Amino acid sequence: MEHEHVVMTIVFVVTTLLTCACMSASDGRLLVNMTLVRNAGSLGAYCLDGSLPAYHIHLGFGAGANNWLLQFEGGGWCNDIESCAERAQTRRGSTRLMTKLETFSGILSNNASRNPDFYNWNRVKLRYCDGGSFAGDSKFDNGTLLLYFRGQRIWQAIIEDLLPKGLGSADKALLSGCSAGGLASYLHCNNFSNYLPDTTAVKCLGDAGFFMDSYAINFLYIQGGKMGGSGN
Ligand SMILES: *[C@@H]1O[C@H](CO)[C@@H](O)[C@H](O)[C@H]1NC(C)=O
Ligand SMILES: *[C@@H]1O[C@H](CO)[C@@H](O)[C@H](O)[C@H]1NC(C)=O
Ligand SMILES: *[C@@H]1O[C@H](CO)[C@@H](O)[C@H](O)[C@H]1NC(C)=O
Repeated sequence: MEHEHVVMTIVFVVTTLLTCACMSASDGRLLVNMTLVRNAGSLGAYCLDGSLPAYHIHLGFGAGANNWLLQFEGGGWCNDIESCAERAQTRRGSTRLMTKLETFSGILSNNASRNPDFYNWNRVKLRYCDGGSFAGDSKFDNGTLLLYFRGQRIWQAIIEDLLPKGLGSADKALLSGCSAGGLASYLHCNNFSNYLPDTTAVKCLGDAGFFMDSYAINFLYIQGGKMGGSGN
């Protein structure tokens, strides 16, 4: 279904093509617990290593109670079976290995003076564990090694988990992300707006999420996927 009247603004913030340092810890930081997506298994939505996907949510209040900000976590990509097998054994490929408490800072902060636009919105960080910008829908299994490339299903599982929590009747909804997560917000912007009613104002923000396979200024060939690989 189409929502012609939903004006979707893609904001290109191509200030840097390098993986983000968009969120920095600060004093008085807000730590938010991880929520595992329990029904993800029924959708076949798994992290690289087969663990359940997850997000962190901090509920909105006051004038922001009906507004939602979703943020895709960034962190480069893996590029082949070898690098993805390696990644599956790190916090970038498994929710088992991730920190269970995330610092909410920047546009996720609840401090009105630091984050005047969104501090009282419902704010969600989508953890990145599929290695492919929440976009893949495949699996590798050769008998000894099993890897899930299920980013598309992870996206779907998380959205379907959030809709009944209030996202489904949001007044305003902003899908955002940085680096590999910025690309994810471009990729899923239309699908996001399709999940929401006509009355929701939907926008998408990709921060440093535009990658090209091309020659860089120093004549070295840059592969988009490898460019973001320094996301530690
Ligand atoms: C909110 O941010 C301001 C400005 O950085 C800071 O002075 C204040 O202490 C912060 N408030 C809390 C509760 O952390
Ligand atoms: C499966 O793939 C991995 C990674 O390429 C390789 O190390 C392993 O030997 C393969 N196993 C079989 C049975 O081919
Ligand atoms: C979103 O995308 C998924 C996967 O392509 C699709 O199954 C689903 O129907 C889409 N949702 C909406 C509301 O369009």
